[in-house]
Amino acid sequence: MEPFPDPRHEPGVRRLPEALAGASVLVTGGTGTTGKLLIQWLLQEAGASRVIAFSRDEQKHHDLIQDPRFQHPALQSMVGDIRDQSRLRHALEGVSLVLHTAAMKHVPIAEANPTEAVRTNIEGTMNLIDASRDAGVSRVIAHSTDKAVEPACIYGATKLVMEKLLIRANAESGTSGPRFDIVRHGNLVGSRGSVIPLFEEQMSSGKLTVTDPEMTRFWINGTTLVSIVHRTIVDGRGGEIFVPKLPACRLDTLVKAINQDATIEIIGARPGEKRHEALTAREEACRIREFEEYLVIVPEYSSTSSRTDGTPVTERFQFRSNQAALLDTLEMREFLQGNFPTEPA
Ligand SMILES: NC(=O)c1ccc[n+]([C@@H]2O[C@H](COP(=O)([O-])OP(=O)(O)OC[C@H]3O[C@@H](n4cnc5c(N)ncnc54)[C@H](OP(=O)(O)O)[C@@H]3O)[C@@H](O)[C@H]2O)c1
Repeated sequence: MEPFPDPRHEPGVRRLPEALAGASVLVTGGTGTTGKLLIQWLLQEAGASRVIAFSRDEQKHHDLIQDPRFQHPALQSMVGDIRDQSRLRHALEGVSLVLHTAAMKHVPIAEANPTEAVRTNIEGTMNLIDASRDAGVSRVIAHSTDKAVEPACIYGATKLVMEKLLIRANAESGTSGPRFDIVRHGNLVGSRGSVIPLFEEQMSSGKLTVTDPEMTRFWINGTTLVSIVHRTIVDGRGGEIFVPKLPACRLDTLVKAINQDATIEIIGARPGEKRHEALTAREEACRIREFEEYLVIVPEYSSTSSRTDGTPVTERFQFRSNQAALLDTLEMREFLQGNFPTEPA
């Protein structure tokens, strides 16, 4: 498979579809790396009339509204917790589209605090489903991760449950309820707490800590992320998982792309970490439709997605990070251009 091309900027082509033109949009986790990327797109390009950034920490809200990139009359910042259903109901008043990014996402922290990961990633999503139904929301797009595929960690397991809750909710929506779809992707370049900002911090010492040099990971940049979310909004038929065809690279390649001369200190994989990731499971192969730039996994038990476009994949197909288009040092360096770093570690 060819990697998902980076379209850079395609002005004007990523507007909300007709049915959602001028919509009010709630972005859960709107102060996070992904949330802020989506909000910039919604404000500058997509044509949303009102965008609500919803998350807990007031300092992040303060930083958001102080940031000149976000000083826009359509942006509303709202402090709230997705674990609190009454607050979510209030946030959803008049909202047509929800982009659900709020999550606990750090693998070691979720391993050490599994009940908290369950409460945010599972119970928070259950609250969102109920509140979206009651508020008459028409579309919900949630962010999932390759770690939800055959999960080895609490974080991935909670995101797998999140996916299944949304797919089931969609099947129960009928023709009038909200349509729930999912975007499943790999590591967002430069996102808060990821390995790239960590390497940047370590660069001054000339020694970078690497869990396992042969580990491979999928990478997505901001432009591709916004494009696949837009594609899911335009084309998602409910209960579907959209998977961009991402490139991957080995961790030692990533280190060299960041600093050719760095010394690598191998520290070993952390609890819950896999050597390689997969963006689709073997069992999903029979439900995948392949398009030029992405895959769509249609739901198991819903008739809402009767997709006949795209092409089927082989029975044994799996999109794995060690079998994907592996970027070499130069390609990875180019991929990182303009994306590194965006957030502190
Ligand atoms: N980053 C990646 O590489 C990557 C890869 C694949 C999938 N994803 C998925 O993409 C989504 C966003 O990731 P990200 O990297 O953008 O995360 P992030 O930068 O850590 O942002 C998470 C956001 O969620 C908010 N949040 C956390 N718990 C909340 C709660 N209980 N109620 C309301 N808001 C809450 C956070 O703010 P407060 O803490 O202030 O509430 C923050 O605004 C997640 O669902 C993640 O699983 C990320």
